[in-house]
Amino acid sequence: MTFIIGAACIDVMDRSCLQECPVDSIYEGARKLYIHPVECVDCGACEPVCPVEAIASDRDEDEDFAPFVADAVEFFQSVLPGRVNPIGSPGGARSTGPVGVDSRYVRELPPAGSFT
Ligand code: F3S
Ligand code: F3S
Repeated sequence: MTFIIGAACIDVMDRSCLQECPVDSIYEGARKLYIHPVECVDCGACEPVCPVEAIASDRDEDEDFAPFVADAVEFFQSVLPGRVNPIGSPGGARSTGPVGVDSRYVRELPPAGSFT
């Protein structure tokens, strides 16, 4: 079980969540942030601080968040543009710094203002 970041983060990236994570398991893409599905210790500290309610537990089985469960896995396990290896599980976002690129799913989503 893990927490996930959904569509509301896209093109907002408030970053308040970063200060709360005790294990530094929130990684920064270009349009949104991604919680590491293995490194997250499921503490829940990040969820209430997001001003746009972009964070949820996968236990909630909220259909709005459903695509982002697999997307978080894909973000860390695939080879993203401009990289030669998957991010994998480096043990914390400080070791990578801002990744600066998104999963394929997020790259292909329209700008946040055009969501219907
Ligand atoms: Fe995004 Fe909310 Fe964090 S907008 S960066 S999930 S505080
Ligand atoms: Fe980190 Fe806890 Fe959220 S481990 S990603 S603050 S659920």
